[in-house]
Amino acid sequence: MRIYQAEDYKAMSRRAANIISAQVIYKPDCVLGLATGGTPVGIYQQLVQWFKKGDLSFAETKSVNLDEYVGLSPHHEQSYRYFMQSNLFDHIDIKPENTHVLNGLAKDAAEECAAYNRLIRGLGGIDLQLLGMGHNGHIAFNEPGDDFGLETHVVNLTESTIAANARFFASADEVPRHALSMGIKNIMNARRILIVVSGEEKADIVCQAFTGHVTKEVPASILQLHPDVTLVGDKAALHKLVEAGVSVCG
Ligand code: F6R
Repeated sequence: MRIYQAEDYKAMSRRAANIISAQVIYKPDCVLGLATGGTPVGIYQQLVQWFKKGDLSFAETKSVNLDEYVGLSPHHEQSYRYFMQSNLFDHIDIKPENTHVLNGLAKDAAEECAAYNRLIRGLGGIDLQLLGMGHNGHIAFNEPGDDFGLETHVVNLTESTIAANARFFASADEVPRHALSMGIKNIMNARRILIVVSGEEKADIVCQAFTGHVTKEVPASILQLHPDVTLVGDKAALHKLVEAGVSVCG
């Protein structure tokens, strides 16, 4: 695993955006696995900036997103489809038909999940998967205790995830209780993984995930077993890892 320590959130975003843009330049028709949440916002802003300068094109690129809330329409401001449109897709030249986000309104959620697995396989797999990490170590919506062998599935969100995501809704009561999410198996099948973390509140779980045992209780710990993982974090999120003796690049 390569670990890059950036001075702050802006530098972390720029470094991670660099890795994504290198992937797109190297293989313009690559499949990017994308994430939502607070952490990647700066990355998407940086990619949009480079696109507007003419340094980057996504005209042949395909994307698959990690997850979506059950019950939210793509037009709901807190849906992950809406997030992706407003933070990235509406501002770059990616073809709409090449962007894929699970449908939170699907009548048959199990079939929606199965179709998503078929879609990922049909695209030839994910070249680079971007991930954030939850305070409880979740990746996508794979919560502590979830089976590492799962592909895309329906998830019951934990109270801690609902509480963490309540900041985006008027109240915690409005946070959906279920989501559709890629499973650990989909993530581990990606050829490369880029995980981004920011802020002191992630320092403990980042240290646990990458210095502790691989355990279902800390889903991100499974990434220790992937052959090509890059972790990019700011100093606040990485300092406990550094204090534990893990070497990082500047
Ligand atoms: C988002 C996702 C989640 C987030 C995680 C961290 O698509 O799958 O696992 O990456 O909850 O969220 P932030 O970045 O808001 O701390």
